[in-house]
Amino acid sequence: MKHLAVFASGTGTNFDAILKAIKNGEIDATIELVVVDKVDAPVIEKAKSQGILTFVFNPRDYENKAAYETEILKLLMAESIDLVVLAGYMRICGPTLLEAYEGRIINIHPSLLPAFQGKDAIGQAIAYGVKIMGVSIHYVDSGLDSGKIIAQACFEVGNMNAEQIETTIHAIEHGLYPRVIQQLLKGE
Ligand code: GRF
Repeated sequence: MKHLAVFASGTGTNFDAILKAIKNGEIDATIELVVVDKVDAPVIEKAKSQGILTFVFNPRDYENKAAYETEILKLLMAESIDLVVLAGYMRICGPTLLEAYEGRIINIHPSLLPAFQGKDAIGQAIAYGVKIMGVSIHYVDSGLDSGKIIAQACFEVGNMNAEQIETTIHAIEHGLYPRVIQQLLKGE
């Protein structure tokens, strides 16, 4: 059985979707570790209630990125993590993680990359007035949402309002991320 680590900073609806897919047998893996960089993020309780090991940290308590990533890396090794799944983790990964887990860290981003990288991608796309929106899953590199794209899905905005757009994006994410994770674990 493959081992996943999920990194998140917020609500954790993608964490929920991945966990559900595991329980339904759609992903042949277990989540062995959840890493969270915000001490009050709702995803923490979700993970704890499932008995999943959590590493919750405040980056300000560390001298630099290498210092907290060294702690994370120790846990990734200890839990024999095969794939690191970023799901709303709002930090750039540094060389400590990237070199140890090259090609084994993925992220989901709520835009059709390379458009609208960074924060509030949905708001950026709405402000731009794009007619087609979507979701991207990509390998993580040292840049901001810039790694090689693995999968994308899109939809026509039509006359949806912002709330409907967000709901649509999240529904797409929750279907696409588990499918891509399973494909990667199977080596497809
Ligand atoms: C998702 O929209 C994801 O694309 C982005 O952050 C959001 C995380 O949401 N990177 P959640 O915490 O999984 O609900």
